[in-house]
Amino acid sequence: MSFPEGLIAQLRISKNLAVLTGAGVSKESGLRTFRDAQTGLWAQYKPHELASPEAFQRDPKLVWDWYAWRREAVKGVRPNPGHYALVGMEKHVPDFTLITQNVDGLHRMAGSQNVLELHGNIQRVRCADCYTFTEVWDDDTESVPHCKVCGGLLRPDVVWFGESLPRDQLEAAVQAARSCDVFFSIGTSGVVQPAASLGFAAHNRGAVVVEINAEPTPLTPKANYSFHGKSGEILPALVKEVWG
Ligand code: OAD
Repeated sequence: MSFPEGLIAQLRISKNLAVLTGAGVSKESGLRTFRDAQTGLWAQYKPHELASPEAFQRDPKLVWDWYAWRREAVKGVRPNPGHYALVGMEKHVPDFTLITQNVDGLHRMAGSQNVLELHGNIQRVRCADCYTFTEVWDDDTESVPHCKVCGGLLRPDVVWFGESLPRDQLEAAVQAARSCDVFFSIGTSGVVQPAASLGFAAHNRGAVVVEINAEPTPLTPKANYSFHGKSGEILPALVKEVWG
C-alpha cells in the first residue's frame, strides 16, 4: 500500500491531530455497524423502537434486553489493528484527540489515552431518574433492574435519538476539530449530527482532512485525501509508513 508524499510529510510535522471514528473501525473486531445494507443493525432493527427515550418508556424491558445483548457482544471482542494503529499515532503527535461515536470502549481497551466518547459507553449502566451509576445489577429478572438509590429504572449510559450528547465531551470535540492541523474521519457514514459536522468544521478552519472509509460519505468531497477500504488495513500501513 502506498500513500501520497504530501500526506506523509504533513503527518510528520503535525502538532495537533483530531480523529473521529465510527462503527466501521470496530467492524474488523467483529461488531456490526449501523448502516451497512445487509449486516448493519439498522437494517434489521428500527432505531426509534430501541434507541430512544420514548422506546424505553413504552417497553423498558425490550430496550434493556437489546442493550444487554449488544453488551455481551462487545464483551466477546478485542481491538483490531486499526485501534492499535491509532494508539501508535497518539504517541507521535504532541496534541492528539480521539473522538469516537462508538460505545464499545475498544479504543481505550487498545490503549488510546485522550478519548472523547460522544455517544457514551455501553458497559456503563446508570439510573434513568437520578443518574447514579451502578456496577452491579441482576440481569435475570422479569423486568428491568432498579436503582438501589432511588428505585428508578436502570439504563445503559448511551445517547439515544433525541437526547443531548454529554456536554463536556462535545465541547472538547468541537474544540479539537477547530484547532487541529489534520483531521481524520474513519469508519463513519457521517450522517449523524453533531459528530458529522466536525469534519466540515475542521475543513473550514483549514485543517487537512483525511478520510478512511469503506465507501464515500458526505465528507468525501471536502477530504484532501480519501482512502476507500478497511481501516484495520489502511491505518497500520499508514502509521508504519509515516513513523516507521
Ligand atoms: P454507520 O454504520 O452509520 O457507518 C459505518 C461506516 O463504516 C460506513 O460508512 C461503512 O461503509 C464504513 N465501514 C464499514 N466497515 C469498515 C471498515 N472495515 N473500515 C472502514 N470503514 C468501514 O456507523 P456510524 O457512522 O458510527 O448512534 O454511526 C453513527 C451513529 O449512528 C452511531 O454512533 C449510532 C448510530 O445510530 C447512536 O446510537 C446514538
